[in-house]
This record gives sequence, C-alpha cells and structure tokens, in this order.
Amino acid sequence: MNSPAARLMQNRLFSQIYEKLWRPVFTRGFSLGGSATADYDRALRAYLARPGERAVLDVACGPGNYAADAVRGLTGRGHYVGLDFSAPMLAEAARVHDHPRITFIRGDAHHLPLTADSFDTATCLAALYLIPDPLPVLDEMFRVLRPGGELIVFTSVDASVAGLPGVDAVAGLTGLRIFGRREIVDHLEKLGMMHVEQTITGTGQYVHAHKPA
Ligand SMILES: C[S@@+](CC[C@H](N)C(=O)[O-])C[C@H]1O[C@@H](n2cnc3c(N)ncnc32)[C@H](O)[C@@H]1O
Repeated sequence: MNSPAARLMQNRLFSQIYEKLWRPVFTRGFSLGGSATADYDRALRAYLARPGERAVLDVACGPGNYAADAVRGLTGRGHYVGLDFSAPMLAEAARVHDHPRITFIRGDAHHLPLTADSFDTATCLAALYLIPDPLPVLDEMFRVLRPGGELIVFTSVDASVAGLPGVDAVAGLTGLRIFGRREIVDHLEKLGMMHVEQTITGTGQYVHAHKPA
C-alpha cells in the first residue's frame, strides 16, 4: 500500500471526487484520448444492469462506481456486495448508494470474508493494477463464484507491441502495475475458467471468464 496511486485511495477528498471527476478522465486515459475504454465501460454498465436474480460481488469497489448499474436490473433475492479496504472510499459509497439491495463491507481482496460458491458475478474493475500481489485476488474471486458464475476484470495491459509510448514511465511514476498481455488470461485458464475473453482497449484490458458449471 505504498505507491502514490495506492495512497490516494485512502484520501477522503479523493474518494469524494473519484466517481464524477477522476474516473471518467482516467478511463479515457486508458485509450490515450480515444474512446475504446469508455465505450466498453458503457457496454459493461448496460450488461451489469440486465434483468435477473443475481448475487454480485464488486471487489475493490471504491466509492461504488458500479453499484447503481449492478442493482438496476436485479430481481427476487438479487443483491450487490461491494468490498474495499479503504474506509474513506466505503464511507463515500455508503453515503451515495443507500439501497436495500446494496451492502458495502471492508476487507482485503486477498482474503475475501465470503463463502465459497456464493456469487453469480464477481467484478474487479480498475483496481488489480494497484495491488502489489494481484493474481491471488483472482483465485479468491474464483473461489467465491458459483459454478457457472462469471468473473469480469478491468485492468492495465502492456500495449508496447502496439508502439504506444510512455507506459513504463506512467507505471514508474504512479506505481501502477502493467500486466503482460497474456498474464491475466493465462492465470484464469490455469484456474480452469472457461470462455476467457480478453478485449484490449489501448493500455487497458477487459477480461470476462466463466467458472465451469
Ligand atoms: C481506482 S479504485 C477502483 C474503484 C472502482 N472499482 C472503479 O472501478 O471505479 C481502486 C480501489 O481498490 C481498492 N483496493 C486496493 N487494494 C485493495 C485490497 N487489497 N483489498 C481491497 N480493496 C483494495 C482501493 O481502496 C480503491 O478503492
């Protein structure tokens, strides 16, 4: 928890401006000014909002950036749990998202305080690159997913093969980790996940995978 970016997540003022001011600009930055990441993000929000009875876990939820979308289409006993270890982020999340289907809990993504096989969807968006030891977080998400459940990740990716400059410099300055192109995909496949789909949007990647039914 020592990088400048990781320290920022503990700042109360930052937690209050994160969702409306910082995240949209940061999202656009992943496509170096283009719209691929923002476009995918919009599609993801619509996907999360589809109708259904689901238990949704949002690992490293921050101020609950996806909470409203994730509960919009929920039916029956469907619910959303956001987990984060930053108290200021969780305070902001609870202030903004007061809804009977939404719960926020404090915890470490490496040791989810949750039962195995209990969620239909587990997301970890814009957070893995802040976590010094990120791959065990995917193991934990896999553990708590029900058979047939889906995992959705948004994180960084090494875009150097596309000739994009400055990725190492950004990583060095912010402490953000840049994942190798196959690193997340290979890890999920090693866990036994199926239908692992990767979409690269510049220096960002979305990965969608399913736990075998
Ligand atoms: C950039 S924010 C992302 C918030 C939200 N998921 C989004 O997409 O906008 C990253 C979040 O990861 C959280 N975080 C970092 N390491 C964590 C860990 N080991 N366990 C739980 N949360 C963590 C930080 O506190 C911060 O709220």
